[in-house]
Amino acid sequence: MKNIFKHISTSKSHSGQITRSPGPTPFIKRHRLKHEKQRRRGKKKLERARRRELQVFPEKSESSSKKMEITIRPFKISDIDDFMVYGCDERVARLTRWNAFNSKEEALTFLKDFCIPQPFFRSICIDDHSIGYVFVMRGSTEYEKYKAVLGYAVAAEYWGKGIATTAAKMTVRQAFKEFPDLVRLEAFTAVENEASQKVLEKLGFTKEGVLRKYVYIKGANVDSTIFSLLSTDPMP
Ligand SMILES: CC(C)(COP(=O)(O)OP(=O)(O)OC[C@H]1O[C@@H](n2cnc3c(N)ncnc32)[C@H](O)[C@@H]1OP(=O)(O)O)[C@@H](O)C(=O)NCCC(=O)NCCS
Repeated sequence: MKNIFKHISTSKSHSGQITRSPGPTPFIKRHRLKHEKQRRRGKKKLERARRRELQVFPEKSESSSKKMEITIRPFKISDIDDFMVYGCDERVARLTRWNAFNSKEEALTFLKDFCIPQPFFRSICIDDHSIGYVFVMRGSTEYEKYKAVLGYAVAAEYWGKGIATTAAKMTVRQAFKEFPDLVRLEAFTAVENEASQKVLEKLGFTKEGVLRKYVYIKGANVDSTIFSLLSTDPMP
């Protein structure tokens, strides 16, 4: 093996201090550069493999969260603590049909028995930490398979940073690819839920109207907007 240190020489200065010769020789620089390049290449390769495996689709989010890398991936049991941050938050659950969870056990059962088995229930992540969810649920019968419902939620501390828009955009593109027979993606929001309607508008969904007393939320039937995006519409 070559001794790469043999070019480093030491000398004594007039003051008696031991000094190194000025910087590494070109050979050492070349060796270090080559090593650094190999290390970077290996890291990129690993990252690509990880993304393929996890079905991660990174995309820079819009507006103020430009530096955050938002990804979507299937949920894991180990997401439970992150999941509880928004799953137990009344502010997040307020305009949805589900109630905020009261215990880790309840949240874990939901994650394990409902979210994970779903064909398309994804965790919205920053640095692989779950900060929300997004799903596409298809009709269950042969006659209803052509349509699906889109839904999402984001932890309150991340609201207003473009995260739901980015994650829903990735989801829509992926869902139409994954389910080639999907013709229509629908979304319902309580009339009061302006933030959610804004997300759908930004994705190019068409507002089709208001369904009166259509959805039961926290003990009352409320009016719901209905939005749709067809497979023939421009993709967001
Ligand atoms: C709806 C929700 C997912 C939006 O997430 P988000 O990451 O904050 O969404 P975005 O930042 O991508 O976009 C929100 C848009 O709504 C706007 N907005 C937020 N609150 C609003 C309000 N009260 N009235 C009007 N617009 C509002 C934001 O300004 C933003 O628009 P802009 O980009 O033009 O400024 C989030 O509020 C949430 O998780 N709510 C609780 C769960 C829920 O309601 N899910 C939807 C069920 S249908």
